[in-house]
Amino acid sequence: MAEQKKGARRSTAWFSGIDRNTFIHRSWMKNQGHPDHVFDGRPIIGICNTWSELTPCNAHLRDLAEHVKHGVYEAGGFPLEFPVMSLGETQLRPTAMLFRNLASMDVEESIRGNPLDGVVLLVGCDKTTPACVMGAASVDLPTIVLSGGPMLNGKFRGHDIGSGTHVWKFSEEVRCGNMSPEDFRDAEAGMSRSAGHCMTMGTASTMACLVEALGLALPTNAAIPAVDARRSRLAHLVGNRIVAMVEADLKPSQVLTRKAFENAVRAVNAVGGSTNAVIHLLAIAGRVGIEFSLEDWDRLGREVSCLVDLMPSGRFLMEDFYYAGGLPAVLRELGDLVHRDAITVTGRTMGELIADAPCYNEEVIRRRTNPVVPDSGIAVLTGNLSPDGAIIKPAAASPHLLRHTGRAMVFEDIDDFYARIDAPDLDVDANSVLVLKLCGPRGYPGMPEVGNMPLPPRLLREGVTDMVRISDARMSGTAYGTVVLHVAPEAAVGGPLALVTTGDLIELDVPARRLSLLVDDEELARRRAAWQPPPPIVDRGYVKLYVEHVTQANEGADLDFLKGGSGAAVPRHSH
Ligand code: FES
Ligand code: MG
Repeated sequence: MAEQKKGARRSTAWFSGIDRNTFIHRSWMKNQGHPDHVFDGRPIIGICNTWSELTPCNAHLRDLAEHVKHGVYEAGGFPLEFPVMSLGETQLRPTAMLFRNLASMDVEESIRGNPLDGVVLLVGCDKTTPACVMGAASVDLPTIVLSGGPMLNGKFRGHDIGSGTHVWKFSEEVRCGNMSPEDFRDAEAGMSRSAGHCMTMGTASTMACLVEALGLALPTNAAIPAVDARRSRLAHLVGNRIVAMVEADLKPSQVLTRKAFENAVRAVNAVGGSTNAVIHLLAIAGRVGIEFSLEDWDRLGREVSCLVDLMPSGRFLMEDFYYAGGLPAVLRELGDLVHRDAITVTGRTMGELIADAPCYNEEVIRRRTNPVVPDSGIAVLTGNLSPDGAIIKPAAASPHLLRHTGRAMVFEDIDDFYARIDAPDLDVDANSVLVLKLCGPRGYPGMPEVGNMPLPPRLLREGVTDMVRISDARMSGTAYGTVVLHVAPEAAVGGPLALVTTGDLIELDVPARRLSLLVDDEELARRRAAWQPPPPIVDRGYVKLYVEHVTQANEGADLDFLKGGSGAAVPRHSH
């Protein structure tokens, strides 16, 4: 370790003193016009920016960073913005999730290797939030999250339309001939008409709520629209706050306590949040050494009803949610279900922050006595088909399918699915259970959002709107349906999902939290003996590393060697 004077700020190990190394550190920074006095020991604040034109949801984050800088300078700090790998859901193939852990490594090492005392994480699109939080948590310097904010409500021909949610609706309508290709193209510009991330309660909005509930962001961070000037104002206040956090040495490890995780689970369930939050929160817990499991998700969720009437489960969008009071109003309504003594980045407790939070619209943010969906927590299913767990979001499912037994129609992988799903003679009816294999962390690889499989067109034309679907994949937070996800262990590692064949009976019982393959043990043993693991799809580079080290969904799908943290000790000199 290089020398850091006792009690001095971390950054002084780079900038204080008269020698060859401090000359190098200061001189090259001065080519950006920084005067000598910014190296006097004031807090140096990294602004970790996931800006990218290939991540449209985050394309405005460089503008937002300027507002953060104003706040940092005003509070006596010195801000330095730096880019990290940006993960955009809409362009990146095969799935942004494949690279979440890689981005988290970029964030972690960029923070640890540089002369920083505190960090602001600028995030938005789905994976950018967990990737940055995971990386920063493993370093544990004072850290605050600022989300980019949702887009304005989508508009199309006089109606509000929601990011993602209406893509699934419109694409089914085009497939069965109820919508013209011209109208389909027209809807694109109406859906995404301002800067910001998806404005449904998809994964981005869910993760923004999650970091606010964890206490890692300032109140109202989750909901202010990206283009509302109050988002820029919040950015300025974030700049102020991070300097104070460095002075107080308030670190993520003090905020990310077990109570904070419990608050986050309840908040996600109360807003009707994305199933992706499950896997990301488990991964974050792994970084800070908090014992947290799928069983915790189920247990904590059982007491919570969905209070927020937002798409994909409900009617409204994030703009409406902000005007109704945003997450503080939800947390206040949750009352005794929120640990009020959990400490937040504000230095105050969650209870203090939400004590007087107003609700301006009880249609959008309901009272607990009048929920959108009662007892709607994300349910964890176990049984002989998912020994290590699977999940379902009952709020997005059809009530009549939550207890259902049907005949499996098995697709061996995603190519098999696309090759056969549109076939007019596909042997399925409304009671069939669609099963998709090899879409887990190792299988695809990267655990893509293909779990909400499109329905067979023949059944769509008959008016079928939902079927039970089961896979080891994830689904988009903007999607809906009776979809069982994250089956663990996945098919690619020989989980029982790999053994299902077409015609088997599968029993789903959400109230009893069971997922059962109704095939006897001898037959399953016979199939297991004949099972062959799939050949590797990629054999070099990051993806090889990922496939060899990724954990299963019930452990957060992090790389096994990234659990825990390495801390913020100052590395050796570079010269
Ligand atoms: Fe980026 Fe939805 S695609 S938030
Ligand atoms: Mg998504």
